[in-house]
Amino acid sequence: MPGGRGTVDLFGVEVPAVVVLMLFGESVLLAAYVVALVLARAHKGRGHHYVMISAFVIDLLMFKPLMLSRAISVYGPFPWPGTNILYHFLLDVGVVTLGALNMYLGFRFGARKDGKMFMPPKGRSHRAVGWAFLVAWIAAFVLGVQLFVWAHVP
Ligand code: HEM
Repeated sequence: MPGGRGTVDLFGVEVPAVVVLMLFGESVLLAAYVVALVLARAHKGRGHHYVMISAFVIDLLMFKPLMLSRAISVYGPFPWPGTNILYHFLLDVGVVTLGALNMYLGFRFGARKDGKMFMPPKGRSHRAVGWAFLVAWIAAFVLGVQLFVWAHVP
């Protein structure tokens, strides 16, 4: 493998393999969220809800714990004084809260008819919170990539 032990050569920069996994995983999740949004816009509610649930659960159970343990192992115990990791972390807590809330709203207001899933007018809160979630998720992603660049790109 290019690079030293446990590292990967990413476009000429030596990066720990776990960081590459995090970057790659979050990029795949970004694509999944875009697919889920396109499905919602196309009124394919069933496909939308499967993709959203899968992406959110994988993010929550796999990548968020990975990032938290990476932050602790590199920057020490929470709240990492003197670093920008805290802002990224707090934004992510907001993102996870919005996502969990929107899962609830999706199940609470989503309706089924003839095997199809749709959102009646009373479920407009799901749309609003969903858009807020996506914008906040992308902001957290961009901030994460910025932290990566500051830490690894000379
Ligand atoms: C984090 C999770 C989720 C997010 C961020 C999210 C986001 C969204 C957004 C932004 C829209 C509106 C798109 C537009 O402007 O037209 C939408 C629509 C919808 N969502 Fe979700 N969603 C999530 C999970 C769910 C779940 C779990 C369900 C069902 C249990 C669900 C069911 C629906 C339905 C039925 C629609 C309407 C599709 C249509 O227009 O026919 N969503 N969602």
